[in-house]
Amino acid sequence: MSSDHALRFCQEDIVVSSPEVAQFGANRPCKVALAGFGTVGQSVARILCSRFAQQFCLTHVFNRRIEQKKTDWVPNHVHWTDRFEHVLNSDADVVLELVGGLDPAGEWVSRALAVGKSVVTANKQLIARRGPELMQLARENGAHLLYGASVAGGIPVLQGLQDGLAGDRILKIRGILNGTCNYILTEMERSQATFSDALEQAQAMGFAEADASDDIDGFDARAKLTILSRTAFGINVAIDQVFARSIREVEQVDLSHAHDLGCTIRQISRAELDGETLYAGVQPALVPEASPLARVSGSQNVVVSTGEFGGETIFSGRGAGGDPTAVAVVSDLLWIARQNGLNAETPSAKTPVKDVSGDFTTAHYVRFRVNDRPGIIASLANIFAKYTINIDAVLQRPGYSKSSLPFVITLEPCSAATMSEAMAEIRQLDFHVHPPLDLPILT
Ligand code: HSE
Repeated sequence: MSSDHALRFCQEDIVVSSPEVAQFGANRPCKVALAGFGTVGQSVARILCSRFAQQFCLTHVFNRRIEQKKTDWVPNHVHWTDRFEHVLNSDADVVLELVGGLDPAGEWVSRALAVGKSVVTANKQLIARRGPELMQLARENGAHLLYGASVAGGIPVLQGLQDGLAGDRILKIRGILNGTCNYILTEMERSQATFSDALEQAQAMGFAEADASDDIDGFDARAKLTILSRTAFGINVAIDQVFARSIREVEQVDLSHAHDLGCTIRQISRAELDGETLYAGVQPALVPEASPLARVSGSQNVVVSTGEFGGETIFSGRGAGGDPTAVAVVSDLLWIARQNGLNAETPSAKTPVKDVSGDFTTAHYVRFRVNDRPGIIASLANIFAKYTINIDAVLQRPGYSKSSLPFVITLEPCSAATMSEAMAEIRQLDFHVHPPLDLPILT
């Protein structure tokens, strides 16, 4: 691979502060213009106005047919506009591009960067196709371009690879990067739904792309894998070098055969570096049922990275949806603000904790080992009843010695303190061969 192709596109590369951008921070809040007031844009505005009103000032909301978008919960000073020029000519420090698509969003991003405004975007197709060129433009103009929300929604996988795993050499990335495909395949498996019924359900849940082909035929995941590969391996891979294969041909018969093999079928995005070759593609694949890739269900995303020194690291969570994606956008915005010296600590870090308690309320599993005689369960039930703890189940298997008989009682949720009082009393009973084992059941 030539050195031209060995560029590493990381946030640190573009820390070039222009005097204009540096004005915000210690002296005044960071001014933010929002382009795109759809599901993600509205969620971003809510987070900024409720949680970060001290640090950020929302100056503009730009959208087509803006009159239909106006809401009363956005501060009065916000300028509503359907002309991007108003954003470009404003004093906003950062533009949040949440419109999506290549055009005209790409044009808007490059014009914003060209006038020295930093940009945060969730636009995976734009970054996958034009990321290196736009990063260069950002550098030349002393601006930042961040796109953490473009891959795996709210999961901080790009930051994790760039910063948290910077000390390792990443060799392999495997992931489930498209919630729609994962939802379809897990529904087909779980409820024997047909492909088209499962697709309709995914679309109704609101995380599918406008064009279903982007999800099903792998183009959405391919854009994300392209961005992930650049970040993980520090190489300038182009989107068209990554193959994408559809999940359309997967049928029930394939899922049941996969099951017989101890596997399931998922849309897997994978990239592996081998010497000077990057193997990269998106396709349906059999994965062992025990694999983390098989255990992520519905619209969740997961990325498993393998490093030369650190081995496997798993990132998982909600890969799409307004709120998780908005969190990623605001986190990128905070990163930019911190580069300019803004006191952008998250408010929760300043909230004093009054108390630290171990008194969790949970369901419990209690295993007894007793010297058997009549009335044991009755006496335990009496004590639990005295503390208003409700028994959920009693489990006992035949075949054990009566002199060391194990059985289990599960209990509905109660506080740890109440449970501890009940167990102190129970431990005094004379039939125990071993002290009972009490474990919380996490649901
Ligand atoms: N359509 C995508 C998915 C969500 O189904 O995962 C946005 O990236």
